Amino acid sequence: MKKIALTGIKPTGILHIGNYFGAIKPALELARDYDARYFIADYHALNTMKDPEEMASCIREVAAGWLAAGLDPEKVIFYRQSSIPEVFELTSMLMAFTSKGLMNRAHAYKAAVQENAERGDDPDAGVNMGLFTYPVLMAADIILFDSDVVPVGKDQVQHIEMAQDIAQAVNFNYKKEVLKVPRAAVQDEVAVVPGLDGRKMSKSYGNVIPLFAPEKELRKLVMRIVTNSQGVDEPKDPDASQIYQLYKLFAPAEEQAALAARYRAGGMGWGEAKEELFRAANRTLGPLRERFEAIMTDREKLDAVLEQGAEKARPIAAATVRRFRKAAGIDRK
Ligand code: TRP
Repeated sequence: MKKIALTGIKPTGILHIGNYFGAIKPALELARDYDARYFIADYHALNTMKDPEEMASCIREVAAGWLAAGLDPEKVIFYRQSSIPEVFELTSMLMAFTSKGLMNRAHAYKAAVQENAERGDDPDAGVNMGLFTYPVLMAADIILFDSDVVPVGKDQVQHIEMAQDIAQAVNFNYKKEVLKVPRAAVQDEVAVVPGLDGRKMSKSYGNVIPLFAPEKELRKLVMRIVTNSQGVDEPKDPDASQIYQLYKLFAPAEEQAALAARYRAGGMGWGEAKEELFRAANRTLGPLRERFEAIMTDREKLDAVLEQGAEKARPIAAATVRRFRKAAGIDRK
């Protein structure tokens, strides 16, 4: 039997090419070898996203984005967290096995408390219980589906370790393996995608290239990439240029080598280097953009795809909750 890979996708804002190369593409590759269960973590987003219009459009855009990028809902169970009531039932059960001290140590909570301290505010100002208990909900997401591996970025590793701690606390108490203990799969070799200013591409830096930017906008953004002041004739170091780093993501090896040689030879200015990047990026992203636009125009179909995913997910979820309730003595049969 194939092992199970599961990951949650928080629907916050539009997808950018950093998301694509850092998370979407590796997760889709993993789905070839694993039974994959990928879901939209809309209840996690609710902690920070209180505008209903924004919530609804983020959910739709992110779901459509993953489908456009190649997620096959026949092969991957693809659903919304909010469609699986057992997630919240399991969360409540796991709460009873989660020490408050463990939550006090969570990076996101600690960072919020520290920021408050620096401002001289109350330590818990602006911290809702959803943020404080975020790792328990995430543990429930994972444990509910008997996940073996959880592909995530480095920033999420602590959350996976907490899910392990919580599952182990349950198993230890009942002296049997009631819940599967998951493992993080951090993809180290995934390239850090540089943004327009050369720092890591990140929404919080405002340096992103949206994955589905219309062709004209894509071109404009590429032309805005910051460069040094080397002139056209000067030889350039491809490895020191974020234009080339981005180009590498889109071009096959032979084209990479050929363009690197042109950088080194001199005679190619930054404008032309950007033109090459735009061409390669648009060649890859053009078809993705078209699929995305097609999916976005048929809202009912998109909802149906997510609903079908939820229908496949629920029996799995129900079985885990049943097992746990039985172990706990809540259900005797
Ligand atoms: N916390 C994750 C993030 O911010 C999203 C997430 C929610 C998740 N539940 C999960 C990831 C379960 C992996 C497994 O990116």
